[in-house]
This record gives sequence, structure tokens and C-alpha cells, in this order.
Amino acid sequence: MDFPIFHLDFMGNRWLIAMIAILHVLINHALAVGFAPLVTLMEYRGYLARKTDLEQQKRWDDLAYKFLFVAFVITTTVGAMTGVGIWFSAALVNPASIGSLIRVFYFAWFTEWIVFVGEVILIVIYFLTWKKSNRSDKAKRRHIRFGLILSIFSWITMAVIVGILGFMMDPGNWLSDKTLFNGFTNPLYIPQLLFRTPLAMIMAGCIGLLLVAIFAKKDNPIRPKAFRFVSIWTLIWVPHVVIAGLWYYYKIPDLMIGNLPVALGTQLFQAWYDKLFYVMFGAVGLAVIIGLWTLFNSRRIPKWLMVLPIIGIFIFIGMFERIREFIRKPYVIGEYMYANAIRVEDYPLLQKDGILPHSTFVSVSEVTEENKLEAGENVFLVACTRCHTTSGINSVVNRFERMYGKGNPLNVDAMKTYMRSMHKARYYMPPFPGNEKELDALAYYIKSLQTFPRTIEGAQLNGTPAVEYDIEKIKEHIKK
Ligand code: HEC
Repeated sequence: MDFPIFHLDFMGNRWLIAMIAILHVLINHALAVGFAPLVTLMEYRGYLARKTDLEQQKRWDDLAYKFLFVAFVITTTVGAMTGVGIWFSAALVNPASIGSLIRVFYFAWFTEWIVFVGEVILIVIYFLTWKKSNRSDKAKRRHIRFGLILSIFSWITMAVIVGILGFMMDPGNWLSDKTLFNGFTNPLYIPQLLFRTPLAMIMAGCIGLLLVAIFAKKDNPIRPKAFRFVSIWTLIWVPHVVIAGLWYYYKIPDLMIGNLPVALGTQLFQAWYDKLFYVMFGAVGLAVIIGLWTLFNSRRIPKWLMVLPIIGIFIFIGMFERIREFIRKPYVIGEYMYANAIRVEDYPLLQKDGILPHSTFVSVSEVTEENKLEAGENVFLVACTRCHTTSGINSVVNRFERMYGKGNPLNVDAMKTYMRSMHKARYYMPPFPGNEKELDALAYYIKSLQTFPRTIEGAQLNGTPAVEYDIEKIKEHIKK
């Protein structure tokens, strides 16, 4: 609560991060982590063919180069920008949690940066020296080795970040002994890494099929072979993803698993959750069918069919990320910091003193009869806006109305009673962090929002709420 409160009242802060992060994961997993080894292997496949059939080598080599071209263009532009974008947006929305993560993972972050720069340099070299490498066998072998090193670097950038993601879900014994080592060796680290690795390979395979269809034209003799090659690649990783996925699942703390159905009770997800694994198996199944089909006749496969496995696997990973983020709630860092950026250990103090006197960027530091609505808005900003808006996505008014019946006037006392034990009613919300006076001001403010819907504008520059209050008028209306 030492930072200005950034708030997007229409779409909510969560969506800002989610959109950037999911796009990044798709690109990073599929086109960096998965594609680097796939392209290298394909180049090697061509290299092996050189003795018997030079023409074939040329075709394999050319196809692998085109694969790399696509990956190169996307990862070094949108991929890199969204990667940085995750940390920008997360640091705006929840600076306290990013601050904590930096304290714990300082050297891991530093390593990440070095490895990332290394990865970019390697992909540039790998891409730019490709044509030259065809001059001799020796150059080709060296080039393939570069691909291998690039693959390892791409994987390490993911391996470091996954340590941080696992930590956020379950910090393990870091809670009692706060060292980097304990943070990194959190219980979810290895299972999550072993799950994401084959998933990335499968994603690459799904995109690979489409690229074969596009780049290996119908008269290209290696077309059927290339289809088969990419389908086998995809298929090989499936058992790994299933086994690691189960292991990961069983490692997730009981509290989170027990609450999975509740967490997924958010309308959109209920419908999807059961079907999630079908979506993935469907996508992979389709990729395999396409692969088998190509054994018999690769020329007649329509291109659009190749798009389906990609859509399937992308939906799968999007849902997976969403669920992972959701079940972590109410914490942003398991049992250490709530998603409202308040540390668990600070709660007793704040519930006694109130959150306003301990927040730097608020416009009032105490609730009085006169400033009640303004104070209420400040309390809302601190306690609820990491997840709720006034009138946009996940609007707080809308949520209360859904509980008490649409159209019914909200009742201040009922809302107060609810909020006193909101963390028990809905596990995914943190307990109310402030004191009784602030609770009253918040309920009053939410009630006023129902009567006079208004948004909180943009980021709060200096903590002054952008709304101009005609408090007397609003009060009068609420009384009626
Ligand atoms: C960690 C994020 C988070 C925080 C912080 C949070 N909420 Fe929520 N809240 C949610 C989510 C997610 C939902 C469920 C949305 C859905 O069902 O789609 C929800 C639902 C609700 C509901 C409806 C509950 C029901 O049973 O249907 C109310 C009321 C509510 N929140 C009020 C608040 C208030 C008031 C605050 C601030 C004191 C707050 N929330 C803070 C995430 C949060």
C-alpha cells in the first residue's frame, strides 16, 4: 500500500495481465521452447539424408529454415514485447507482490535476463548463419549444434520463470526459512516444469503441421514425410504431459484443489472445466489423425484442418493458465500475501487501525461522517479493486445485486454482515482488511454506486479519487 493504485474500471486489472500473459505463454511455449528443438531436429533430419539424397536434404533444410523464419519473426517481436509487458502490467497492478518476488528471486531474475539476452543473440545467429552453413558438412554440424544450444537456452528461460510461478502457488518451506533456495525448490516447481516442457513441444507440433501444409507444397516429395515427422514429434510428448500433469495435480495444495469447483463456479468456467482435458486430447488426437492420414495420402488434406489442433491446444493452455491463476486466490503469494497486495501478517494491525492510515496513496486517512463516501471509495480501491470494478467486468455492485436479487435496493447492514465473513463465504476472496468504520464506509459507498453508478477513472496519480462528490445529494437519495 505504498504505491499509487492503478485501476482500469472497465475491464478490470486482472484482464490486462491475463491478456498479455496468455499471449506470451502461447508464443513462448510454442514458438521458442517447442520450436527450437523441433527446427533443430528437422535440420538434423535433412543432414542425415544428405548421403543418400542431396535433393531431399535441400528440401528438409529449406522447410526447417521456413519454420525458423516464422518463429524468429514472432518471438523477437510480439513474444519479446509481451514478455516484458507481463512484468510491466503486473508491476502496475500489484507492485507489492512484484516487489516481494524481486526480493526473493533477485538472482534468479538476473540469471533470467542474462539467459534471455543469450537466447536472442543465439536465435539471431542461428537464423542469419543458416544459408552459409550449407556450404560444408562441418559448417552444418556446427550450425546444428547452435540450434541445440538455442533449444537449451529457450528452455532455461522458461525453467527460471516456472520456479517463480510455482512459488506463488505454494512457497513451501520458504515460509519458515526465507532463502532463495527454499523459494526455488518449492513443491510445485518440478512437476510444473515437467508438465510445461512436453506441453510446449506438443504446441510446437500442432503449429508445425500447419506450417508443413503451407510451406511444403503438394508437389514437394517430402510433404508426406514431413507430416509424419511432425505428428510423431507431437505424439511422443503426449504420455509425458499426461504423467506430469497428474503429478502436478496431486502436488497442488489440498485447499486449492478442494476449492477448485468453487473457484470454477465463476460462470464462464463451470461449463468448460470438465471438458478441458477433452479439449487437449481432442487437439492432440486430431494432430495424430492428420499425421496418420498423411501416411496414406498427404496431398488431399485440406489446410484449414490443420488449424483445428492449434485452436484446441491454445484453448487448453489458456484455460490452464486461467485456472492456475484462479485457484491461487485469495493469495498472490501462497499464505504470505493476499491478492489485494496486503501481507497476511499485517492483517491484525490493519483490522485494528484501519487500512487508510497505513496507505500512502489515498485521499483521506480516516473515516468521518463527512467524508464517508470518499473514504469508502478509497477503501474500495485498496481492498477490492485488484479484482473488482465499480461497473465494468466483475463489478462489485453487480455481484451484490446477483446475491440479493437484481433490482432490489442494496442493504448496507446486509452487505456489512457479508463482508465480515466474505473469505468464508467465498474462499477465493481475502478477508476484509480494514476496521469496522471502514467497512461501514465501504458498504455505504457500494450502496451509493447502485443509486449513482459512476466509474473510478484510470490510474490514481496522487491518490485523489477522480470522482467529484455531491455528498449531500447522494446521501439524500440513499435515505429515500
Ligand atoms: C482476490 C480477488 C478479489 C478480491 C480482493 C475481492 N474479490 Fe470479491 N470476488 C472475486 C471473484 C473472482 C468473485 C466471483 C466472480 C464470479 O462469480 O464470476 C467475487 C465475488 C464477489 C461477490 C459475490 C459473491 C457471491 O457469492 O456471488 C461479492 C459480493 C464480492 N465479491 C465483494 C467483494 C468486496 C466488497 C471486496 C473488497 C472488500 C472484494 N469482493 C474483494 C474476487 C475478489
